[in-house]
Amino acid sequence: MKEKDKKLTDIIDGMSLEDKALMLTQYPIDSICGNKEIVTGCWDMDGMTNDMIMRVGTVLNVANGETADRIRAIRKENGIDDPLMFMLDVIHGYRTIFPIPLAMACSFDTELVEECARIAAVEAAADGVDATFSPMVDLARDARWGRVMETAGEDPYLGGEMGKAYIRGYHNGGLACCVKHFAAYGAAEGGRDYDTTDVSERNLNEYYLRAYCECVKEKPEMFMSSFNLLNGKPLLAHPELTVDKLRDEWGFDGVLISDYNAVRELNVHGYAATPRDCALTAFNAELDIEMCSPCYANNLPDLVREGVVDEKSLDEKVYRVLKMKDRCGLYDIDKSTDTQKRDKITLCEEFRAAAKKAEERSCVLLKNDGVLPLKKSANIALVGPFADEKYIFGHWASTGRADDVVTVKQGIERTLGRTVESEKGCSYDLLSDDESGFDAAVRFAQNSDVIVACVGEHMYNSGESHSRADIALPKVQTALLRRLKTLGKPVVLVVFGGRPLALTDVLPLADAVLYAWQGGTECGSAIASLLYGDAVPSAKTVMSFPRSSGQCPIYYNHFQTGRPRASGKPAVLSGDICTVGYDDEYNDPLFPFGYGLSYTTFDYSDLKLDKAKMRRDGKIAATVTVNNTGDRDGTEIVQWYIRDKFASVVRPVKELKGYERVELKAGESKTVRFEITKDTLAFFTDGGAFDAESGDFDLFVGGNSRDCLQTGFSLVD
Ligand code: NOJ
Repeated sequence: MKEKDKKLTDIIDGMSLEDKALMLTQYPIDSICGNKEIVTGCWDMDGMTNDMIMRVGTVLNVANGETADRIRAIRKENGIDDPLMFMLDVIHGYRTIFPIPLAMACSFDTELVEECARIAAVEAAADGVDATFSPMVDLARDARWGRVMETAGEDPYLGGEMGKAYIRGYHNGGLACCVKHFAAYGAAEGGRDYDTTDVSERNLNEYYLRAYCECVKEKPEMFMSSFNLLNGKPLLAHPELTVDKLRDEWGFDGVLISDYNAVRELNVHGYAATPRDCALTAFNAELDIEMCSPCYANNLPDLVREGVVDEKSLDEKVYRVLKMKDRCGLYDIDKSTDTQKRDKITLCEEFRAAAKKAEERSCVLLKNDGVLPLKKSANIALVGPFADEKYIFGHWASTGRADDVVTVKQGIERTLGRTVESEKGCSYDLLSDDESGFDAAVRFAQNSDVIVACVGEHMYNSGESHSRADIALPKVQTALLRRLKTLGKPVVLVVFGGRPLALTDVLPLADAVLYAWQGGTECGSAIASLLYGDAVPSAKTVMSFPRSSGQCPIYYNHFQTGRPRASGKPAVLSGDICTVGYDDEYNDPLFPFGYGLSYTTFDYSDLKLDKAKMRRDGKIAATVTVNNTGDRDGTEIVQWYIRDKFASVVRPVKELKGYERVELKAGESKTVRFEITKDTLAFFTDGGAFDAESGDFDLFVGGNSRDCLQTGFSLVD
């Protein structure tokens, strides 16, 4: 047990039971303090009086320094000395908005992610925010799930690396942060947000928990528990995860906070019969802060008085919250907003430039039959519902402003130095069947050299609670593209999405496809520089792109079955039966994990190992030559995968073990090196240990998870 800080224990000694329960309660308000200024959040905090509300330890959703100052002042006037802590979802930027995390992960660029998180933190901290509820490191295998946009995709290793980069960035920028949603929230059945998960212990340890565990190394201040049922019990009824795993095994000594209203939802799940039971269940799962429900506030004091809950354990939780506040410096300074400083840095040129670079490195070029990059002299017809749309910056950017956003049209105008016109053609509404704008769009495109069609899903059709059953491009947009295709002109698609959309139907209608995700404040300027070749695409997909919704969940690191279908084709085409697959669909995705094109081409050769056998205390150095075979400079993301061929439990067909962004001038070659040790090969063995087993391994290296050079080596005792 580490020694406690006396300053904090003295504070706890002076607190009543009620004060302690309120310290563990987070209130959802924009304005606080027991007078007319109270505006309650959308959830009812029944039973909590204004006086109680004024004394809570932390609040969320105050996104304005002046309001934070006002709240602090009112608390002071009412004799409350303890510094309130302000928390907010700063997910992909504060005022300068960066691409959504799923997009940023496609850069495979942890330095970039760290820098963007730092900027977000600097802006947020200058506006009164003390902590963000980010990073989210849930594993995402099902593109129907709305929240894949907040993740780093389907690979647990990459998820951990990205999560750590966000934490470092937030800390460097002066913000505390919270790893979420612990645990397995991404495994929601049917891809429906908030839905049940059922995950074996093996799958949990090996895949779902991996990134959370990795993040502990960067010392985040908080972990957030998730909403979901896991294997029949709500997350807050899994002390073996929240206590044994998180605290005891991983050594996390920060604050565990619930998700919004999740303590009260223990009742809705059918697990805890009363608010008192809810409080007790969460308390026993070592939950420190209850977010936005009043079970702790209304019940903990009595639970202690009745002897059901031990006051020492209550004090432990309070201590953790105070410690977090102290770590943020809240006891040392009298915080107040320096509005001049804030206004000077907010959305400054430097931050905008970082946002542009981030989107340039996040957009994935999925197809290019030679039409890109566009010639600046070409007469383009800019069409589609997102051609001049500002709501392309990303779903979880509530402090972002549409007015700040550069649209694709504006970006192109800046790049070309002249005005361009655009025509929507149709709406982005998911269920729209209104084709009345088609004729105008076709007329508009008739005399162009090339059509640039900005299509996709609206940013509010992904994100929390926005799951989709059909992830194809909305039908009306596909119909518009069919009409445009009849003009016989080259068509470039710029696709917006918070998830990989199933593009099978529209791929043949396009000569090039640039997948832009949701790209932050500078979305349009980054897209323009990529379209015109001022920047060269380098990003790679971090989720497999399904051919159809029915393929979900689909991920590259799956297991081999006993009956693999060699052709991978639908049975109606191949006649294959009694092998794994569909009658009416291919097995492989439309674009595999790690895939993405450039304006140049890369060739891989000379995959070599310095030895074919490795002892357990040894290592193998692998090298490969990567050659830029095109006539443009470019960046290739070199990816290393392994497969453990036989083990005490079956291993995935491929597992990402390393990657590197390699810049290559036209014609240049570089040797890329990768080291393999026992740790690279470790997994949860049948005996339950995280260890490597002796035997044979495949090593793959390439520019995506499908097209790789391959060699092999052995681990020997
Ligand atoms: C619910 C979301 O699941 C979580 O990610 C978020 O941090 C909280 N609400 C607070 O807004």
